[in-house]
Amino acid sequence: MAKIHVSTTINGDEVEFLCETEQTMLDVLRDELQLTGSKEGCASGDCGACSITLDGRLVCACLMLGAEAQGHSIETIEGMAQGEQLHPLQQKFLDHAALQCGICTPGFLVAAKSLLEKNPDPTETEVRYWLAGNLCRCTGYDKIVRAVLDAAESMREAT
Ligand code: FES
Ligand code: FES
Repeated sequence: MAKIHVSTTINGDEVEFLCETEQTMLDVLRDELQLTGSKEGCASGDCGACSITLDGRLVCACLMLGAEAQGHSIETIEGMAQGEQLHPLQQKFLDHAALQCGICTPGFLVAAKSLLEKNPDPTETEVRYWLAGNLCRCTGYDKIVRAVLDAAESMREAT
């Protein structure tokens, strides 16, 4: 079957790619565009490791077709740091040792960034609810939650 031509924006750059009709956005990112920061934990929308934003809305790339990116704007973990300058969330994840194997980390960071854009001053409960769709088998979550709250505080102080 003929591939589909897709024009989209990824991390601020205009991008074109060809994909199969059934190819997920996660597979397009990883296999066609070599943007391998988004991870595949489950491929069924359960783990959040593939989290990206689509026009600012948090979505699971494994539940989205590549063809659905046509005309939209996508942000992935690769767009989070500004050159060598880590995003405050990335820095706080390092400071709090909020990762171990790291498979879940890109998804947590993308999801947490999405939260802080909507709610710059979340409570711990709000952080835990927002990140309930992101699973981590290593850290026990407490360090992740503390890192997000700390990043939120430093981002508020910087504005
Ligand atoms: S790989 Fe997409 S939610 Fe798990
Ligand atoms: S750090 Fe290993 S799954 Fe979260």
